[in-house]
Amino acid sequence: MRVLVPDLKEFRTLRVEGVEFAFYSESQLPEGEAEGAVLWLAPAPLRDRLLTWPGVKWVLTLTAGIDHVAGRLPQGVTLYNAHRLHDRAVAVHTLAGMLAAERGLHRFRDAQQQGRWQRTLNLGTLDGADVVIWGYGHIGKILEDLLRPFHARVTGLRSRTPAAERDAALAEADWVVLLLPSTPETQGIVNADVLARLKPGAWLSNQGRGSLIDTGALLAALDSGHLGGAVLDVTDPEPLPEDHPLWQQPNVLITPHIASSTRDLIARGAEYTRAFVEAMAAGREPAGRVEPGQKY
Ligand code: GLV
Repeated sequence: MRVLVPDLKEFRTLRVEGVEFAFYSESQLPEGEAEGAVLWLAPAPLRDRLLTWPGVKWVLTLTAGIDHVAGRLPQGVTLYNAHRLHDRAVAVHTLAGMLAAERGLHRFRDAQQQGRWQRTLNLGTLDGADVVIWGYGHIGKILEDLLRPFHARVTGLRSRTPAAERDAALAEADWVVLLLPSTPETQGIVNADVLARLKPGAWLSNQGRGSLIDTGALLAALDSGHLGGAVLDVTDPEPLPEDHPLWQQPNVLITPHIASSTRDLIARGAEYTRAFVEAMAAGREPAGRVEPGQKY
């Protein structure tokens, strides 16, 4: 079996019996057919070439989200994702953002840059906070476990949650955490109407995709003071342009789509690939198969 993998040093040392790895990069593509392609860190034009590579029967994207692949995959090619590679880091990053916001670290950092000793009592601990996790899958469950010692109350929302139940949970929430995938149904799911339903002072965390939130409505809710603040690892647009008004919001904490990054991510991605390809070569079904039309 021949498999296309990124040309990174951690992948160069992969060995699996009966498998030949062929390495691709932006500047160099291998020759010949391949049965599988492992997608990672490939810009759009390269990604599209890999998806339509001669002979490819399956594609593994080493991401959790599949929106960059959805709709581009030829008929009959099976798609797998690698949410397990990212679940824990994203959950930890989400918790870190919530704690940073509750403790006002962003405001203290702003004051620090001006050498201001600025004290306040307006700080929280998450104790008794109502946290709604919208998109309650693998990451959401890990986040719920991480939140337990902080005595937060967690409600998970799924696509099948009835609308009335969802709206009641949103109206009570101190935090709304978005872990939804980007699909046509989730596009702009947090709009002016949803933001208006939130309790005054509630915070929003988006660790899913920027397209989940109507950015104009978010800015309006922040400006009016209705929304307490937002912790955003993903934005719309992305990257966020230098002059975008979100940068200037005092109660917005922005990270540049790095929630899943860890120092050992590439090494873990290579090991994930090795185990995945070993299963494939042995005729076992690896984890992560994405069914067409899969919901959250
Ligand atoms: C990152 O956003 C991912 O989907 O893995």
